[in-house]
Amino acid sequence: MSHSAPALPLTARRAGALTGRVRVPGDKSISQRSLILGAMAVGETKIMGLLEGEDVFNTGKVMQALGASVERIGEGAWRVLGVGVGGFAQPSAPLYFGNSGTGCRLVMGAVAGCPIQAVFDGDASLRTRPMRRILDPLELMGARTSDGAEGGRLPVTVHGAVDPMPIEYESPVPSAQVKSAVLLAGLAAPGATTVIENEATRDHTEKMLAHFGAKLKISAHGDHGRRITLEGQPELEAAPVTVPADPSSAAFPMVAALIAPGSEVILDGVMTNPLRAGLLTCLREMGASIEVLASRNEGGEDVADLRVRASALKGIDVPAARAPSMIDEYPILAVAASFAEGVTRMRGLKELRVKESDRLAGTAEMLRVNGVAVEIEGDDLIVHGKGRAAGGGLVATHMDHRIAMAALVFGVATEQPVRVDDMGFIATSFPGFVDMMRSLGADLS
Ligand code: S3P
Repeated sequence: MSHSAPALPLTARRAGALTGRVRVPGDKSISQRSLILGAMAVGETKIMGLLEGEDVFNTGKVMQALGASVERIGEGAWRVLGVGVGGFAQPSAPLYFGNSGTGCRLVMGAVAGCPIQAVFDGDASLRTRPMRRILDPLELMGARTSDGAEGGRLPVTVHGAVDPMPIEYESPVPSAQVKSAVLLAGLAAPGATTVIENEATRDHTEKMLAHFGAKLKISAHGDHGRRITLEGQPELEAAPVTVPADPSSAAFPMVAALIAPGSEVILDGVMTNPLRAGLLTCLREMGASIEVLASRNEGGEDVADLRVRASALKGIDVPAARAPSMIDEYPILAVAASFAEGVTRMRGLKELRVKESDRLAGTAEMLRVNGVAVEIEGDDLIVHGKGRAAGGGLVATHMDHRIAMAALVFGVATEQPVRVDDMGFIATSFPGFVDMMRSLGADLS
């Protein structure tokens, strides 16, 4: 998605019950990692079910610019020929990541362990996001970085380390991107690189590294955290990857089915990794009818077919400790909370301020312009649910795909239509969202 593309407004109108059976696209986090690790492995990695969205395409192009071969061989089927750990070639132009924080930050780590230099850049949204959290540990490992703006905003130049050093790093923020960047840089360092996280975040990098033959030790750290140690300089070997359906994308039709009266929707093959399942826990606590029809393992991840029925929801208190397992789901949980009876308090949402937009402010604004009483208290979001919502508002999406999708889901059940100023960024993570919602009976035009 180019930041100069014309805005694409879209309106959601209430149209009754949603019904049908759908499978949302592949998980964005796993798709990104499959391209990056495929490019760092020796041999040919075949990926099935890759998310064919803008964020992932940008990472694919960057992997090509760094010397890997990335080729589409069928629908969702891709082949990556890797260059081996430390084998990236000097790129001839800046690396452009569009809207994708994950692509940019993980590749910063991967490049930091190679003796090359690269300029990292992205769209207007990515250029506002903090990169110091990534650059600090990479500098400790021997990379040199120079950033254009205070706080390490893009564009940033990374001079990879000639002799990368292993470190033990306790991340000051609960971020799978920080953890992953350090581990990917650690691949090129001799000896053990350790990341300590005080709150466990998604573990897709660890799982995929192990799948590609790296040796890791993972143990508990404190009440909610983990200590992850990677043995450096492994021979990463290409291995096939199957990408399960993205729970962060499934969240949108799931909540739509809960709030549109009379709905019954089946969502196929949704990944239920506990480090991604915080929204499911919340919705069940709110009284949602979400039934597991079948569960199985796909490509090393547990997945389930879920039957979701429209439900009378009640407000809940969401503990801060749950945030890492549902960090991308707060905008859509806030929509569900608007249709619940009673107050929902979502605690500890500091990290939402540095997503594709300030999602704490953007989520509150999305609800407010549509007649919902909402407050921000410190880092908490408080929604006063009334079992119904007026709608009628125009939602500013601020280049943020998840605000756009949450607002359009909101409009399937509000009394008046909900309009978004630009649905263009939905293509970063969920191409086909509009068509899928229409196939379930939503009125989007
Ligand atoms: C992601 C980690 C999360 C999440 C993002 C994807 C990943 O970011 O918000 O959409 O794939 O590692 P943080 O690591 O900044 O929390």
